Amino acid sequence: MSTGFLHLHVFVTTLFLLFMAFKVVLLVLNKTSLLETVRNKTKVVDMILGALLLVTGIGLLVFKGSVPAYIMVKIVAVLAAIPLGIIGLKKGNKVLAVLSLVLIVYIYGVAETKSYKFKKDKITVEQASDTILEANADTQISNGKALYEAACVECHGTDGKKGLFKAADLSASALSREEKIQIVSNGKGTMQAYKDQLSAQDIESVVSYIETLK
Ligand code: HEC
Repeated sequence: MSTGFLHLHVFVTTLFLLFMAFKVVLLVLNKTSLLETVRNKTKVVDMILGALLLVTGIGLLVFKGSVPAYIMVKIVAVLAAIPLGIIGLKKGNKVLAVLSLVLIVYIYGVAETKSYKFKKDKITVEQASDTILEANADTQISNGKALYEAACVECHGTDGKKGLFKAADLSASALSREEKIQIVSNGKGTMQAYKDQLSAQDIESVVSYIETLK
């Protein structure tokens, strides 16, 4: 249910923002009569898309409960870009319209890189947890646990079963260790690649830890 929702939401939002970007470009190029025609012809479609965007967006928020920071930033940017674009287009105000276009491009960047800074921060074990310095039982697993808590818990949950964004249940995974390493390194679906953020050794550690969730 919620993946269908997510796909619908992404589709509707993309269409809506592309539409708006197109109209902003027309405004900037002074193609006002064409812009008027386009706006009049697409009024109803626009309203339906706008309503669907809000409904699916709110639906997703309600379903998920907690959302990663980059998604919060994206939501705020979408909520700012849409009224700016609408007012800009209505009043023929290029500054507002361009501002909305800049926001749209930014939102695209955020969605693409899954980071509001467009850059994935390195996750270090030290950052992840101070307590692991005290843990001397099995260092690889405890490093893995700290990394897991820093990077994976939001979607997979402490027991691996949380399933945010349809995240696979790690406690029931049938994948081999190699396959898990491959997925964590290169990402899959909504899950990002971690090979730029985690060293090969860290990926080994985090996979060792998730194998204990069984
Ligand atoms: C943004 C949410 C998110 C985060 C953060 C995340 N994952 Fe995932 N993970 C997913 C989703 C969604 C899938 C399912 C992908 C698919 O099958 O399309 C998945 C799948 C996996 C799988 C494959 C399991 C299987 O049986 O198919 C593994 C292993 C995994 N994640 C490990 C991790 C590890 C380790 C981390 C932290 C370094 C992590 N994930 C962080 C969302 C996330």
